[in-house]
Amino acid sequence: MVGTFITLEGPEGAGKTVLARRLADALAARGHTVQLTREPGGTALGERLRTLLLGGDSALAIDPRADALLFNGARAQLVAEVIGPALDAGEVVLCARFADSTLAYQGYGAGLPVEELRAIARVATGGRRPDRTILLDVAPEVGIRRKTPDAHNRFESGFDLDFHRRVRAGFLELAREEPDRWRVIDSTRHVDPVFEDVLAAALEVL
Ligand code: TYD
Repeated sequence: MVGTFITLEGPEGAGKTVLARRLADALAARGHTVQLTREPGGTALGERLRTLLLGGDSALAIDPRADALLFNGARAQLVAEVIGPALDAGEVVLCARFADSTLAYQGYGAGLPVEELRAIARVATGGRRPDRTILLDVAPEVGIRRKTPDAHNRFESGFDLDFHRRVRAGFLELAREEPDRWRVIDSTRHVDPVFEDVLAAALEVL
């Protein structure tokens, strides 16, 4: 039995964490067995890499290629430990961020060739791809302001607004390229109507 793999993507401050939690609860209430996870993280190795990759240690230099490989290292472990087994057991997997984040941030944002990044992701994921990807779209100037500056991660504090605009445009481009997989949702609205759209987008593939 093969489960259903749903990812939530989007720029900073789009509400992925809150909406993923609400979606997991709503699907569980409908009788689905749901595995909720996030990137980078979700495993012991992934959470340690998360601290390195996102921590406030601005003295730690990380080249975009190193970023791409480290995010994919966390991803490989998450697929091996959590996502793969859950899908093989027929469960619903919800993941806040996945391989598309590397294409948007390290590709469109930092300028690495997107095709090379796709090849790295194929190695990390063993070819597992989401059945549905929900893009929570918000302008970066709005999203970044939703968090207090002391909660800003390395990307929010160390990369300028133009970088985050390229990231957002990259996500929208990826969604245009694969309209069957993606649903784009305006995340500048109140969380309740956004959630209704998120739930509808998930139910389409369940
Ligand atoms: P996120 O977990 O959404 O941060 P927060 O919980 O603080 O909102 O995002 C992690 C950060 O890592 C985000 O700035 C995007 C970045 N990122 C990449 O650059 N490449 C990747 O492959 C992934 C998964 C995340």
